[in-house]
Amino acid sequence: MALLYIAASLLAISSKSFVVAEPSSTYTCNTFTIPLKNISAPSFELTFEIKTQWDITDWTINEARRDSATAFNGIAGPSTVTGDFDISARFCSPLNLKRTNLSQTVLVLTHGLGADKSYWDPTFTGGEEYSFVQAAVTAGYSVFHYDRIGTGLSTKADPHRVVQFPIQVEILAALTRLLLAPSSPYTSDVSLKSAVHFGHSYGSYITAALASAYPDLTQGISLSGYSGIFDFFNILIAGWQSRVAALLDSSRWGHLQSGYVTPVDLYADEYLEFKSPYFDHSVAEWASSVKSPYAVGELATLGQTPYDTTNFTKPVQVFQGRYDLSACGGNCDGVLNRTALLWPKATPLDISGYFPAGHSVNLHHNASVAFAAMLGFVTDNIHA
Ligand SMILES: *[C@@H]1O[C@H](CO)[C@@H](O)[C@H](O)[C@H]1NC(C)=O
Ligand SMILES: *[C@@H]1O[C@H](CO)[C@@H](O)[C@H](O)[C@H]1NC(C)=O
Ligand SMILES: *[C@@H]1O[C@H](CO)[C@@H](O)[C@H](O)[C@H]1NC(C)=O
Ligand SMILES: *[C@@H]1O[C@H](CO)[C@@H](O)[C@H](O)[C@H]1NC(C)=O
Ligand SMILES: *[C@@H]1O[C@H](CO)[C@@H](O)[C@H](O)[C@H]1NC(C)=O
Repeated sequence: MALLYIAASLLAISSKSFVVAEPSSTYTCNTFTIPLKNISAPSFELTFEIKTQWDITDWTINEARRDSATAFNGIAGPSTVTGDFDISARFCSPLNLKRTNLSQTVLVLTHGLGADKSYWDPTFTGGEEYSFVQAAVTAGYSVFHYDRIGTGLSTKADPHRVVQFPIQVEILAALTRLLLAPSSPYTSDVSLKSAVHFGHSYGSYITAALASAYPDLTQGISLSGYSGIFDFFNILIAGWQSRVAALLDSSRWGHLQSGYVTPVDLYADEYLEFKSPYFDHSVAEWASSVKSPYAVGELATLGQTPYDTTNFTKPVQVFQGRYDLSACGGNCDGVLNRTALLWPKATPLDISGYFPAGHSVNLHHNASVAFAAMLGFVTDNIHA
């Protein structure tokens, strides 16, 4: 704990951070802007720059071609990046804290590409049944979810040179240290004892990397939209048909630099995220209406930094939609046994691949069944 505190105190906390409280009958949430200072990470020089729709289309060909693994990686060489970032985040905890000590464990949620923190707590009318946040606070846990840089209300840094994989890992580590620091200003006076990390999709890779690089910061992890296997990314990239967001819809995204790109339309979003007949079209329409373009530097650098997952000894859950496109090529049967090889020392290792859903598990029918499995894993295996 002393080490955690020293690390956290290196991060200056500026006075302009603000708080918005939301009332609710059974739990309370505060929204923060967290100013992170002087975060640094390894980074990469890229061989390409996306300025036009021609550029992103050629990038799609390069990433999707059958020999992309050897013919194109888009990396010119190693570099480093240091920056200050404002992170939009939300902390929720049950109102009746004394009833249970579970609230001393915070579930830290990291969303995937194309989304923001609302993935974990959908904002549309009737969205409660799809809200992992509500399920978790109802079960007694505290929850922290945030917009990764480049998305939502967080800093829209340079999408080629800054918004890359390793800096996202360092930001998650910095946020976790802040949450676990004594008298943290971001936990609404709840004194936290431990953190468990949840990831979806790209956020699962970040979570896996955090667990590998900083195992002391987490008591366990739960991953969805994840297999750890990159073999099927060509299918994703090809079908996504990404476009420069600012040129695709200037009224919505005109403020973003050209390296922020997004699937061409609602149906391209659906292609990755959903599988019929296990979802409502209105939910997919909502997800598309709140989507955040992704930074091209994020996809280009995923998998370029080796994070060794094989020494992680704490609990690991992989909870997969059976028909996940990017993680399993549309069918997880016979794929997830390879995932198990990535986590040989995880205790326990709980891999499930039969939930009837596509990639965005939380937004499919019967999400409450998935939430019960995810939260049950924490309750059964992690004790603050
Ligand atoms: C920023 O962090 C680096 C280490 O990562 C440190 O050497 C440097 O002194 C820090 N700068 C400031 C202004 O705190
Ligand atoms: C809850 O936590 C407090 C303070 O850490 C401790 O004194 C108490 O025994 C715990 N209660 C239960 C039921 O574990
Ligand atoms: C993993 O553990 C093995 C055996 O203890 C050790 O040799 C190796 O360096 C470790 N890897 C990492 C990345 O720490
Ligand atoms: C995974 O299961 C499939 C289908 O049962 C099998 O063909 C494959 O060899 C297995 N792979 C590993 C690494 O066990
Ligand atoms: C939800 O799961 C139940 C079984 O637990 C199943 O009978 C039902 O068809 C599922 N509903 C949907 C909409 O998938």
